[in-house]
Formats: sequence, structure tokens, C-alpha cells
Amino acid sequence: MLESRKRTQEEIEKYMRELKQWLAQERSKPAEEMSDFFSKRIGDYENVHLGNWAKEYTHIADYFDTPLSSLLDIGCGTGLELASVYDRFPDVKVTGIDLSKTMLDKLRGKYADRQMEIIQADYFEYPLEAERYDAALSFETLHHFKFHKKQRIYDKLFRTIRPGGYYIECDYIACCPEEEAVCLEQYEFKRKEGRIPDDVFIHIDIPLTLDHQIQLIQNAGFERVRVLYENGGTMIIRAEKGEVQ
Ligand SMILES: C[S@@+](CC[C@H](N)C(=O)[O-])C[C@H]1O[C@@H](n2cnc3c(N)ncnc32)[C@H](O)[C@@H]1O
Repeated sequence: MLESRKRTQEEIEKYMRELKQWLAQERSKPAEEMSDFFSKRIGDYENVHLGNWAKEYTHIADYFDTPLSSLLDIGCGTGLELASVYDRFPDVKVTGIDLSKTMLDKLRGKYADRQMEIIQADYFEYPLEAERYDAALSFETLHHFKFHKKQRIYDKLFRTIRPGGYYIECDYIACCPEEEAVCLEQYEFKRKEGRIPDDVFIHIDIPLTLDHQIQLIQNAGFERVRVLYENGGTMIIRAEKGEVQ
């Protein structure tokens, strides 16, 4: 298991000053459509992500229970988080869903010897079978969506996990209400400036505070929603679906 490190108040204040400067620099740049964003960066995507979250990718499987037969990974991308999952659970059947063909093409080449179902789709729309999976995972994919969209995916995840199963999320969580508010303001500004229709996904980070994130996960019906690890803005959250529904 990973050891957590919470930020001090001074670190949060410094982080917020730097974030606001960065948002100001970025303000006039047009928003990028989600799939285009990842296609353009496929060459160095894994190095950048491993540079930021190597420990979390290596240890994410520690947060799962044994045995694990079936796992849904939403926004699986190139499957960086799946290396540790397959190391610990070589026979697990994984379903990976992602919008980006480019990311999934890279994933396909990596785990050809594993039992994996790869689906190119929008996870908000793709129909998920009720009570199919032992567990579900999302790794650094849900911080691009607003409240109502996130609620929708948590509701779907709750339904597709079997009773007694659980959901693990590793994601970017806002340090404070101000971070949530300034990121959301920039997101709305760029959508408006670019006249981007509501149904087009854009790659802009809009993390929620932990309180808001937990509220949405609980609204879906999950119990025992706990932060198992945190390091700066990265948290690993585990939420459980009770045995009796
Ligand atoms: C930052 S990457 C994370 C990929 C992988 N989980 C990892 O940690 O390396 C976010 C991924 O989420 C995918 N994604 C974003 N919105 C999506 C949606 N609505 N449906 C399916 N995939 C989505 C993107 O295409 C991208 O591959």
C-alpha cells in the first residue's frame, strides 16, 4: 500500500497561487476536444503519465480484494493501470471502455495475451449490464465532467457492480472550494468563447472537492466511501456496494 502525504496549508496556498497564474496564461487558448487531445499526445502520453503517477499505477491493484474475476475499467486509455492489475490477478476478465481509438489501439498491442474486452464508446452512453462486475475502476478520467454527468456515471457503475462489489477511483480532487470554482469558471468561459455544443467533450480539468465527490458517489447508493490514499491532488477512493440491495 502507498503512504499518503497531505499538503500543508502553506503548500495549498502556493498551489492555488500557481494554479491561478496558469489558468490566466491558458485563458485565451481554445479548448481541445477530448479524443483529439489524446490522439495528438499519444507519442509521449505514457511517459508523461508515468512521470506523474508511477507509484499510483504500480500500486493500484493493492486496493482490490482477492479473488477478482471481473473488472470494468472506464476511460482505460492505454491501460497503464492494468499492468499492476494483471500482475496481481492474471486471470481477471477486464472490460475496458474508452472514447479514443488511438489510445485503444495502443492498449490492444499491450495485453494481447490477456482476457480483455475492449470497447470504443462513450462511457456515459454505453449500456452496462446490471450486476456484471466484481469491481469497477476509473483512473484519471472523471475530472473533466460536471456534477450531473458524474452523477450519471456513478449511478451506472453502482448498477453494473454485483452486490458486495466495489468501485476504486484514482483521480484529481480539488484542494478547496476555490480550486473547484476557478477551474469550473475557466471551463464555462472556454465553452462559451468557443461556442462548443453541450454534447462535445473537452479536455479541461474541473476537479470536484472531496466532499462533493463523496456526495455524488453516495447518492448513487455506494456505502463506506473512503479515501485510502492521497498525495497532493491525487486521491484513491474506494466505495462499496452492499450485499443486500
Ligand atoms: C487521462 S486519460 C487516462 C487513461 C488511463 N486510465 C490512464 O490512467 O492512463 C483519460 C482517458 O479517458 C478517456 N475518456 C474521457 N472521456 C470519456 C468518455 N466519456 N467515455 C470514454 N472514455 C473517455 C479518454 O479518451 C482518455 O483515454
